[in-house]
Amino acid sequence: MSSLNKVVLAYSGGLDTSIMIPWLKEKYGCEVVAFAADVGQQEDMDKVKEKALATGACEAYVLDLKEEFLRDYCFKALKAGAIYEGKYPLGTALNRPIISKYLVEIAKKTGADAVVHGATGKGNDQVRFEVSVMALDANLKCIAPVRTWEFKSRQEEIAYAQEKNIPIEVSVEKPYSIDRNLWSISIECGVLEDPWNEPPEDAYLITTSPEKAPNEPLYLEIEFEKGEPVAVNGKRMNPVEMIVELNEMAGKHGVGRVDIVEDRLVGIKSREIYEAPGATVLLTAHKELEYLVLDRETFRYKEHLAIKYADLVYYGYWFSPLREALDAFVDETQKRVNGVVRLKLYKGNCVPVGRKSPNSLYNFNLATYDPEDSFDHRTGEGFCKVWGLPLMVAGSRK
Ligand code: ARG
Repeated sequence: MSSLNKVVLAYSGGLDTSIMIPWLKEKYGCEVVAFAADVGQQEDMDKVKEKALATGACEAYVLDLKEEFLRDYCFKALKAGAIYEGKYPLGTALNRPIISKYLVEIAKKTGADAVVHGATGKGNDQVRFEVSVMALDANLKCIAPVRTWEFKSRQEEIAYAQEKNIPIEVSVEKPYSIDRNLWSISIECGVLEDPWNEPPEDAYLITTSPEKAPNEPLYLEIEFEKGEPVAVNGKRMNPVEMIVELNEMAGKHGVGRVDIVEDRLVGIKSREIYEAPGATVLLTAHKELEYLVLDRETFRYKEHLAIKYADLVYYGYWFSPLREALDAFVDETQKRVNGVVRLKLYKGNCVPVGRKSPNSLYNFNLATYDPEDSFDHRTGEGFCKVWGLPLMVAGSRK
């Protein structure tokens, strides 16, 4: 293997990235800088940092990226209405570009010649890391040890860890592979790999099952300014406060569970479940406000773009010209997306029940069938004739 001077490793503190530190030093004769991002995964980040240093990293960076992650990645996807294959709010996919951005920054700062990630050879995350790094710095190498190293099983990894004096959590083997951040939690493997199996309750971390959720509904009011959520029940909050609070409140009511057989970029169908209570509330409320304030054609056009936007995020094309161009379009549409949506949360459901906006296009006098009706019904006759004209011509040829 070619020798390297120094590498920056996207470090989580888990088994894979932990044994990567001595493995990289051995294989490449390089120094290893560890970088861990706090994106709300509920780990003790001080411990993560300590562990990296104790197991041979020359330096360790822990950065709190929660606010930037939500504001500059998740809220953009929210405004775009991006949901992959109609179900997945893209938490993991949105998280990779921001990690890549800091991998590249730290590599520049520390004079590293490569970055390292712990993703496998058949998943999406390898693509997201590597494509993002390529987009940000064409000269930086990218190393993915899991694709090539000699370990064939978790047991072999544990043996290597023991040999290298790396502490392993002796907790019962985790039955699932979990990737957690504030926007969503991704859960796969174990019994979930049979798409016929209903996910067992213990697979879910932050949502109550609808059966056990409170018998009383919870009403929430979400306020938006230019398409961004700014307040819950009249209380202004920053993005982190808001998501933490909504995850808690909506999770309690069983809102935000997703069960999907999704298409991975590499062509494999995979069964995954997600928990995204806060994101579900915000995506539902945001769209509901758009129903009220966007004109029909903009709304429909934006619906098409939402699918494209979600695909770009999922496919690792965050740092692409198209994503930036779509954001410009989305932001133009969001200038009018101000107002409040009232939602009812009840046993796993999150249903909009009220909406209001200074930019509402709803016109009572036009819509009503009451005496206040101001619409000139006589114009309907001409409208139908013109609208139906092409069908009349086509029909008469049969
Ligand atoms: N399928 C999701 C994605 O590609 C999540 C991948 C990571 N999942 C996990 N459970 N570790 O974005």
